[in-house]
Amino acid sequence: MSETPKKTPITAIKGTKDILPSEVKKWQRVEAAARNVFDLYGYGEIRTPVFEATELFEKGTGETSDIVTKEMYTFTDKGGRSLTLRPEYTPSVVRAIIEHRLYLEAHPQRFFFFGPMFRYDKPQKGRYRQFHQIDIEVFGEKDPAVDAEIVEMANALLQKLGVSGIDILVNSVGCRICRPDYHRRLRAEAENIFDLLCEDCQRKTVTNPLRIFDCKVRGCRDASESLPKITDFLCPDCEEHFRAFCSHLDRFGIAYRIEPRLVRGLDYYTKTTFEFVTQSLGAQDAILGGGRYDDMMKQFGGPDMCGIGFAMGMERFLAVVPDRDEPATFLYIVHMGEEAKRISMDLARFLRGRDIGCLIEYKTRSLRNQISRASKLGAAWIVIVGEDEVREGRYQLKNMATGEQRAYSREEIVTAVRRPG
Ligand code: HAM
Repeated sequence: MSETPKKTPITAIKGTKDILPSEVKKWQRVEAAARNVFDLYGYGEIRTPVFEATELFEKGTGETSDIVTKEMYTFTDKGGRSLTLRPEYTPSVVRAIIEHRLYLEAHPQRFFFFGPMFRYDKPQKGRYRQFHQIDIEVFGEKDPAVDAEIVEMANALLQKLGVSGIDILVNSVGCRICRPDYHRRLRAEAENIFDLLCEDCQRKTVTNPLRIFDCKVRGCRDASESLPKITDFLCPDCEEHFRAFCSHLDRFGIAYRIEPRLVRGLDYYTKTTFEFVTQSLGAQDAILGGGRYDDMMKQFGGPDMCGIGFAMGMERFLAVVPDRDEPATFLYIVHMGEEAKRISMDLARFLRGRDIGCLIEYKTRSLRNQISRASKLGAAWIVIVGEDEVREGRYQLKNMATGEQRAYSREEIVTAVRRPG
């Protein structure tokens, strides 16, 4: 008899992960806190497609960025179009604003967004190929007060969720006026240390020397210490913007560190850049990154409207948000006998119709067995439906936290369960 071949189960793709019900509660708590904070600061939710024309990211994220050169999930669809699963959100929002002429509405415009991103990165702890971002973007406001406000807003979210041990790094990467001069000086000096740089950074001396500061290779980090810093080359406008941004943070009482190496991995930044980093996640230490991008809208053929925003990596952020016991809120109906089961099904429907979450036992088991199952599942309440209850139309309601038990009518159950505590 031939042996049945062993089937290899299909597993999730490398760099992606399932978010199981036991983890989802925490995701929802973080998302709810973010929605609440963003609402307080006047942000509205926007949702855009998961895939876009490849050109959008080439133009927006930048042709010399690692994301575009190495990490995009690009494919040709059946109509022969080159499409890309979004690796980040910012270019998509800018596209949507131009396409729907939202720029004609009152400024500044504030958006937030939650969703998956895709980067063909090398998977490791805190780095995935499908990951999720909470993103915010503001358009049409040049005042550095808004730069400080978004940092303060991110900080407020961290505080709301009890996150500590975060360092805030800030920098200015200049603008199209001051950066060309700086680039020339940087390129010239980078050529002097060319032999000390890794192959990737040697290429960057030609394509985008600023990106050398981003390299994690020890030799490059040491060698680049001697390179000129952008903060010494800022034009008066960028210098004043950065000074005002920092002084607003000082007034908010937000501790930060000026980090001239903070150039960020995307091509579009102008003036302010910032990152929130933690010591607790190893190499993938940035939980949030952002900055100003005053030229993108114009480059996309829209009006000359500035933008600023940040994105928070959900997987990394969740790792630093303290866990919390999620209190059970549902009610479990246990019953004895066929008639009681039918009544229980009606009762469940009645309670759900009044926004009370409830489960019902389907199998015929002993009462003890059903109660122990309810308790294992973490029910907050148990309703017992037996012959007496069916006859009298009153049901035993047990509070699992206090052990208190009393007979109630259907309507009284609704009131008792809704009552806090
Ligand atoms: P980003 O620095 O590329 O910026 O990403 C923001 C955050 O996403 C990072 O700080 C990190 O927490 C998370 N992240 C990035 N790549 C991965 C990955 N492979 N696995 C897990 N988490 C990751 C942006 O995406 C910009 N669009 C931010 C922005 C918005 N700037 C202006 N507006």
